[in-house]
Amino acid sequence: MSFAELWDSLLDIGRDPGTGGYRRYTFTDADAACRAWFMKTAAERNLRTHSDRNANLWAWWDVGDSADADPAEPGQPRRPAGGRPERMARGGVWGGRPPEASTVITGSHLDSVPDGGAFDGPLGVVSAFAAVDLLRERGFAPARPVAVAAFCEEEGGRFGMACLGSRLLTGAVTPDTARELRDGTGVTFAEAMASAGLDPARLSADEELLARIGAFVELHIEQGSALDGLGAAVGVAESIWPHGRWRLDFTGRADHAGTTRLDDRRDPMLPYAAAVLEARQAAAAAGALATFGKVVAEPGAANAISSAVHAWLDARAPGQEVLDHMVGQIEAAARRAAQAQGVEVGVRRESFTPLVEFDPALRARVSRALAGRGITAPVLPTGAGHDAGFLAARVPTAMLFVRNPTGVSHSPAEHASRADCEAGVVALAAVLEELTSP
Ligand code: GLV
Ligand code: MN
Ligand code: MN
Repeated sequence: MSFAELWDSLLDIGRDPGTGGYRRYTFTDADAACRAWFMKTAAERNLRTHSDRNANLWAWWDVGDSADADPAEPGQPRRPAGGRPERMARGGVWGGRPPEASTVITGSHLDSVPDGGAFDGPLGVVSAFAAVDLLRERGFAPARPVAVAAFCEEEGGRFGMACLGSRLLTGAVTPDTARELRDGTGVTFAEAMASAGLDPARLSADEELLARIGAFVELHIEQGSALDGLGAAVGVAESIWPHGRWRLDFTGRADHAGTTRLDDRRDPMLPYAAAVLEARQAAAAAGALATFGKVVAEPGAANAISSAVHAWLDARAPGQEVLDHMVGQIEAAARRAAQAQGVEVGVRRESFTPLVEFDPALRARVSRALAGRGITAPVLPTGAGHDAGFLAARVPTAMLFVRNPTGVSHSPAEHASRADCEAGVVALAAVLEELTSP
């Protein structure tokens, strides 16, 4: 199947007809449709599938398997194509698998931010299946297993913590913390997971699965326009800036907008506004980024002073010290302004990812493999977070970026050309071939 057909088969799921943006929130109907798409796409390719204990999806291309083996039902182990019947005889998902860490994983995520673009996440999953197709069309037989993965709740779009599935897999968050995360309506992650037919009691780091991973390579749309400036369709990631999310709760006193004298007000909107302005100034001074993209005013009346304002700060910087200093400045400005207005303020870090430097040896091997095929792939740092950042703490990890001419992302306007997406598939296939050749 061509990249275009595969891409189009996912395109309509979870797209809002009004905005054209995606609302693929974890454990909703749109998410269930994405998960079903993954299982069906894998089964059509005779890839063995399973949903792991942390709701991440996997599709395995085992050594000796081919595209024309007997198909399996989604979620079920299938009969292998000619050979290694001992794997099935020993039963279970892992029965008979080689114990050494050798599987090369590729993939990304299918969930979205509110009104996200089509490419952030899905491009990596679709390209992974397309790369498997391309390698098989060429008759390539991997000497090590390959698996396609789709990680759960990468954006934190519903439960607030980015990369939740890969954090759980790698032990970067405790199962109890994950189970208790709540969406905007108070539903816990555990409740939502159970209502999707999955068992939240099983959430935990998966050492057995990790032990089988030799390398992870995530392909992702670039969330900036550096590749466009460099005239390259594909790039290789160098590092991910440290970044996190902080929740600021300002509590004031509701009152009448038309009768309350300015001096008598305890208006939480004012320290919130001071924090927004300080975020901009502190980020500019530090060469960093700070954003308030979500704010909730209570009770939300146009003719009343708010009783409370809840706001979320997303902050990112090239280094940890710069990030800590900038967040400290923003918090201090919020506290100063809150005190001046008689408003209470609470600040809580909801999610954090330290600096990630991708494995230099793997990165060099990826770059060599691409150069060997005549693919120019500049090396870039990024301020965007990825599941690859969490996998990198446990297994050699690399990332490929695909050119985004405008750089716009987390928006319906996000775009990559068809030709560049296809170039990404060719690059990913080259990397998989390099990493799984005898
Ligand atoms: C993920 O897309 C992030 O960087 O927020
Ligand atoms: Mn994203
Ligand atoms: Mn992403």
